[in-house]
Amino acid sequence: MTETNTVRIAILGLGTVGGGVYQLFQAQKDSLEAKTGLKAEIAAILVRDRTKAREGVDSALLTDNFDDILHDDTIDIVVEVMGGIEPARTYITESLTAGKNVVTANKDLMAVHGGELLDLAQEVGRDLLFEASVAGGIPIIRPMKQCLAGNRITEVMGIVNGTTNYILTQMDEAGMDFADALAMATELGYAEADPTADIEGYDAGRKLAILASIAFHSRVTFSDVYTEGISHVTAADIRYVRDMGSVIKLVATARETEKGIEASVQPMLLPAHHPLASVKDVFNAIFVHGDAVGDTMFYGRGAGRFPTASACMGDIIDVMRNIRFYCTGRIGCGCYRHVPIRPMEETEQRYFLRMQVLDRPGVLASIASVLGKYGVSIKRVAQKPTADDQAELVLITDQVKEKDFFKAVDKFKSMANMIREISSLIRVYE
Ligand code: NAP
Ligand code: HSE
Repeated sequence: MTETNTVRIAILGLGTVGGGVYQLFQAQKDSLEAKTGLKAEIAAILVRDRTKAREGVDSALLTDNFDDILHDDTIDIVVEVMGGIEPARTYITESLTAGKNVVTANKDLMAVHGGELLDLAQEVGRDLLFEASVAGGIPIIRPMKQCLAGNRITEVMGIVNGTTNYILTQMDEAGMDFADALAMATELGYAEADPTADIEGYDAGRKLAILASIAFHSRVTFSDVYTEGISHVTAADIRYVRDMGSVIKLVATARETEKGIEASVQPMLLPAHHPLASVKDVFNAIFVHGDAVGDTMFYGRGAGRFPTASACMGDIIDVMRNIRFYCTGRIGCGCYRHVPIRPMEETEQRYFLRMQVLDRPGVLASIASVLGKYGVSIKRVAQKPTADDQAELVLITDQVKEKDFFKAVDKFKSMANMIREISSLIRVYE
């Protein structure tokens, strides 16, 4: 801080989010003193290329050398919005060690190294805030850590990836197939140039790891989350599911059960009346169940320049308030216990199974017999002729242990004389 009680802020990265933080800071600057009791100014901005034109940004603030920021003792807050694991992890570690507070939007980093970074922040008595790392502009981390602190949270469930939600909405409402909907998401700038992390569920998996760690006070990392993407979901699945009164969403769920934490990201059938079923396009929503509060839901824009900058700016203001009252590091890592992770194959699920079968007497009985052998009970069945000697069979099961269900599926794969193709296999939310 300067002698005039001005908090000095450095931004690492000036892309979509960094540019938004810079612009929002300029717009908010005059009200910061009234909100926090301290003035603030941007002291430096780290970029890779200082010579690149940056419209509306004072070029004197730009640096391509992190040491300029690290060794400037007047800088109190470092806002990391570069992304990726390295050098972000090193820069955050060095900033905290040097006594600076950190605000980050970096889910990739927090989902893997959040524990070690939060421990360090606690050790040095500084803030490490990361509201923007999950669901962009939606307030969820602070509400879970603070407002819901009096609850035992048993379940967190959400739609936390805008790109996939947009794709599934287009497939459902405009009848598009997956490839066309993805192309549309790319054209509109929702999907990244490489959309793998979005469509394979990794982006949502990282966000879920962060949410689950906070919800259950036990560290959950990205590798603990079972992830499955949406590229195998077809327009035919969506039509069937709609006829059955459900929708397909990429659902991130984490539950604490007596046998451990279950955490997964996967396409799922949700009943059309479930509150998450009506979350459309790029919107995100998170549903949290606490023992005292019951069900709560948080909804809004999960990505984008200003929604994400909004979350970063809220964190900056929080740090400024803590600096003013000499209480940085007030709310650190909440993981004070260790709950084991339950492997996916041990969990109980319900399934939607679509198969192409021969339309002959005895086929359905043989399929039912295999399911019965592995303890799979059928809740619903529908069959429709598709060609002269073929039919499409759609089954919805009752809850069954995942590994038992897959034993039945393996058996189906060996019944080529009756089952021509297993077209889809999607879990059903229960
Ligand atoms: P982006 O547009 O690609 O911007 C990244 C910025 O960081 C660029 O200005 C780049 O510099 C700079 N940078 C990257 N590596 C650097 C390095 N080694 N040294 C110096 N500068 C470096 O990314 P973004 O979309 O703003 O995302 C930033 C972070 O926010 C990520 O962690 C992301 O997951 C998170 N986030 C993003 C959103 C969203 O809607 N975009 C939402 C929530 C969270 P140059 O300009 O010189 O290339
Ligand atoms: N790629 C993410 C999404 C945005 O589509 O939701 C950044 O979290």
